[in-house]
Amino acid sequence: MLLNVYLLLALSYVTCTYAVTLNWAATWVSANPDGKFVRPVIGINGQFPPPAIQATVGEKVTLTLTNQLGNETTGMHFHGLFQNGTSPSDGPTGTTQCPLGPGESVTYSFTVQQPGTYWYHSHNRGQYPDGFRGPLLITDPDNPYANQIDGELVLTVSDWYHKQVPELIGPFLSVTENPDGAEPFPDGAILNDNATTSFKLTPGKTYMTRIINMSTFSSFLVKFDQHQMTIIEVDGVYTVESQPTDLVYLTAGQRMSVLITAKQSTNRNYAFIGAMDPTMFDCYPDCTTPLNATGYLVYNTYKPLPAEPPTFPSYSSGFIDDFTLVPYDHKPLLTGVTHQITLNVESGVYFNQNRFAINNNTFIEPLVPSLYSALSTGSEATNPLIYGQYANAFVLNHMDVVEVVVNNYDEGGHPIHMHGHNFQIVQRSPSGAAPYNNHLSNPPAFPIRRDVVKVNGLGYLVYRFVADNPGEAGVAV
Ligand SMILES: *[C@@H]1O[C@H](CO)[C@@H](O)[C@H](O)[C@H]1NC(C)=O
Ligand SMILES: *[C@@H]1O[C@H](CO)[C@@H](O)[C@H](O)[C@H]1NC(C)=O
Ligand SMILES: *[C@@H]1O[C@H](CO)[C@@H](O)[C@H](O)[C@H]1NC(C)=O
Ligand SMILES: *[C@@H]1O[C@H](CO)[C@@H](O)[C@H](O)[C@H]1NC(C)=O
Ligand SMILES: *[C@@H]1O[C@H](CO)[C@@H](O)[C@H](O)[C@H]1NC(C)=O
Ligand SMILES: *[C@@H]1O[C@H](CO)[C@@H](O)[C@H](O)[C@H]1NC(C)=O
Repeated sequence: MLLNVYLLLALSYVTCTYAVTLNWAATWVSANPDGKFVRPVIGINGQFPPPAIQATVGEKVTLTLTNQLGNETTGMHFHGLFQNGTSPSDGPTGTTQCPLGPGESVTYSFTVQQPGTYWYHSHNRGQYPDGFRGPLLITDPDNPYANQIDGELVLTVSDWYHKQVPELIGPFLSVTENPDGAEPFPDGAILNDNATTSFKLTPGKTYMTRIINMSTFSSFLVKFDQHQMTIIEVDGVYTVESQPTDLVYLTAGQRMSVLITAKQSTNRNYAFIGAMDPTMFDCYPDCTTPLNATGYLVYNTYKPLPAEPPTFPSYSSGFIDDFTLVPYDHKPLLTGVTHQITLNVESGVYFNQNRFAINNNTFIEPLVPSLYSALSTGSEATNPLIYGQYANAFVLNHMDVVEVVVNNYDEGGHPIHMHGHNFQIVQRSPSGAAPYNNHLSNPPAFPIRRDVVKVNGLGYLVYRFVADNPGEAGVAV
């Protein structure tokens, strides 16, 4: 009898499913994240920074979003989650949903199946730099590094602009105001949505530090003074523990978990730096705006904070090349490609605006979200009469082994992101080597998988995935 009771308890513990239910309203809030300028930002339920979403693998998340902005549409994307079977909850407006108008609500509902570090953000009209973005953290009861981890830290890095996105986009696109097509220059770098941030460390403890790049445009380098990092996760994929490093590089949208072990001594505090990569900006090498933000590892509150952040000698070396990382599960290189897609990416003038294009098509938001067109028209999905002339859709067969070649004809390096899947990075050229000659040289036996990867300026990238998530697709550059 007792045994039965225990058994029942054990069973109910195992089978009980927990749920995360959130009621969020997007609202305007006044904030001053970089300490230099107060401006309206988009917060959640009157709060800025917006809160992190936390869930455990297997949990169901139900989030009802109400648009209380009054004067702008919105919509919300859960970056990196595959939304397998729940593609209407993916969130990009024009692709899986209509823009959410003022006063309207939408409910996103999905079960989290992937552990790791993600983020959420508005996916409507380039809106997230105005504040609507935050961490999405999935706890893993089976984390293979659990026995090494005593605690967790979360660090977001981002560029920050004093002007609002609608004010930035107009002049950026304008051929007369911006003949060089130069990207708007940020006013500063922020850490955890603040000019600075501090982590209180306990001596000798090891922290899984989740670093999330929520930038609009800039890549970031992060360095902790006299504290080594070993990479254990990128974009939700556990890696074989990397070599210790003191510098990491993240493009916008990328995430990384690193192990950092606190020192035994509490006799001083240490600084760390989040530095934007200025080589991505047209002002380089003369960028004078502060592109660096400094944070602190605090061991002893009675001791001063260091006056200067750590320095590093180069923006292009000294960090671990993510191409060399090995996935923890040792999933081998996908072979037997059944479908190859080539994406020629370039910047130029389209519709008399500064724009980017893929295969000579620039993105024009469809009136009907693409997912709905695909579901209602099936094999007609690529018909320009249905999608519009500029949709540039590729239709995949279920379980195709897809190889995507990205030739970057732009001088700048750019992150490539795909929804619904992560992908194996099988080839990445240095700058200047595009286009790909259709010959794989020495692909890794166990390629790293990510959902965002950087393609170098005038370089190419080859990645592979299996089309095993019907209803989900989309590449962003
Ligand atoms: C909407 O209202 C906010 C808050 O007053 C303002 O800061 C923002 O510029 C407005 N957006 C547009 C597109 O006018
Ligand atoms: C930024 O950090 C400072 C110092 O820790 C704190 O006083 C301030 O409230 C923070 N600002 C925001 C917007 O969180
Ligand atoms: C974040 O991503 C942007 C865009 O790729 C990049 O310019 C910036 O350096 C990244 N920041 C970090 C800290 O990785
Ligand atoms: C940011 O940090 C880098 C690396 O130490 C340094 O070279 C650069 O001068 C700093 N930039 C600014 C504007 O302080
Ligand atoms: C795009 O179209 C223009 C004009 O039709 C042509 O000159 C150019 O070569 C095309 N680019 C690509 C990558 O196909
Ligand atoms: C989606 O779910 C199906 C069925 O369980 C599975 O075969 C497939 O691998 C999943 N795809 C992704 C991207 O998770």
